[in-house]
Amino acid sequence: MRVLVVGGGGREHALAWKIRQSPSVERLICAPGNAGTADVAENMAVGVDDHDGLAALCKKERIDLVVVGPEVPLAAGLGDRLREDGVKVFGPGAAGARLEASKTFAKQLMQRYVIPTANSQTFRDFPSIRTYLESQQHFPVVLKADGLAAGKGVVLPDSLDDALNAAFDMLEEKRFGAAGNEVLVEECLRGEELSVLALTDGRTLAVMEAAQDHKRAYDDDRGPNTGGMGAYSPAPIATEEFLSNITENVLVRIVHAFARERIDYRGVVYAGMMATRGGPRVLEFNCRFGDPETQVILPRLKSDLVTLLDAVADRRLGQVEDLEWDPRPCVGVVMASRGYPESSSKGDVITGLDAVHEMEDVVVFHAGTAREGNDVVTAGGRVLCVTALGDDVAAARERAYAAVDQIAFDGMHFRTDIAHRALR
Ligand code: AMP
Ligand code: GLY
Repeated sequence: MRVLVVGGGGREHALAWKIRQSPSVERLICAPGNAGTADVAENMAVGVDDHDGLAALCKKERIDLVVVGPEVPLAAGLGDRLREDGVKVFGPGAAGARLEASKTFAKQLMQRYVIPTANSQTFRDFPSIRTYLESQQHFPVVLKADGLAAGKGVVLPDSLDDALNAAFDMLEEKRFGAAGNEVLVEECLRGEELSVLALTDGRTLAVMEAAQDHKRAYDDDRGPNTGGMGAYSPAPIATEEFLSNITENVLVRIVHAFARERIDYRGVVYAGMMATRGGPRVLEFNCRFGDPETQVILPRLKSDLVTLLDAVADRRLGQVEDLEWDPRPCVGVVMASRGYPESSSKGDVITGLDAVHEMEDVVVFHAGTAREGNDVVTAGGRVLCVTALGDDVAAARERAYAAVDQIAFDGMHFRTDIAHRALR
């Protein structure tokens, strides 16, 4: 089979690494990829937003299956476009991607299909959100821009003043452009967060092992929110009972919702959950694999990923055997470039990758990297996700940090407490 992975981050490196292991893959292309995907696939310089370019690439290289990594091209209809051309695609069309691309749409769907989530109200103008916020007794509240905002559209203001400022930024100053035309005010949920990803072809579900990520930039969950500074799988709070609760009350219902709403959904449903005292509730849905969750989930997957993705794209997931997992935990530590998440720097040489390559049960997934002559250099943002398997979480974590210690680049920073919740 000829497979194309669309994207160029750590998630796409992990997907390409796992896809490469499948005996059915004869050719693997990544567009645009990074220095890490170049080791397992052929990189081609076509951007994720260049739908015409990707369609042409599929035709020229006679691609059998496209796996779309990021949400932006999915929300912009890349899945629909390629399917119209007769290409098999893993990833929902624009209608399904609204699950992530419009938080008001996702909320309405959850209300209609009785999926547990935080209570919320939607506002379209500043005077009405102001009246509502002024009537609130408890802070923080949660403010969310409706549309895609690269992870920056959610704020948890501690006071009325901060809430009004944030609402003004979104609705009046158009800080997120059209993505902020509608703003949700949500009750603030408390508890531990958990990411549950499931493959679905719109009829059947294959629920993956749960993961937890670390969103804040610095140790002890301090500092600004990021795309994710590390992750581990499995998550100890995700007991069998807890996962079957989520499967029954969230995942089965969302698949039912797709069917009732005539949404042809073939891809991943990522349920961002909060384990509250009153049971698990949905914080958000994503229409794609998580980053960095994928980097710690896929090293534990024993099943052939291509068989699964192809079955989802073909709507025959029900005919595929249950997922098989390596019971060993996986821990992943993100190494970020100087200034991340506020700013980022580029072009610093990364050393130590060859030494780490020799370490057993360690895989380094590249995110912001590029090749420059014989060097691998940083390309900004999150640079690497260093993952390791171990007999228990402590062993996996020790091995991951032993690998991190071998790697260096100017301005690097990483958290030293990844998986601390799993060790309590
Ligand atoms: P989202 O993009 O909706 O997942 O929001 C980003 C982050 O904001 C989540 O990972 C949570 O840490 C936090 N968050 C979102 N919604 C809520 C909520 N209702 N209560 C508490 N925290 C939330
Ligand atoms: N790790 C959070 C996300 O992928 O959205």
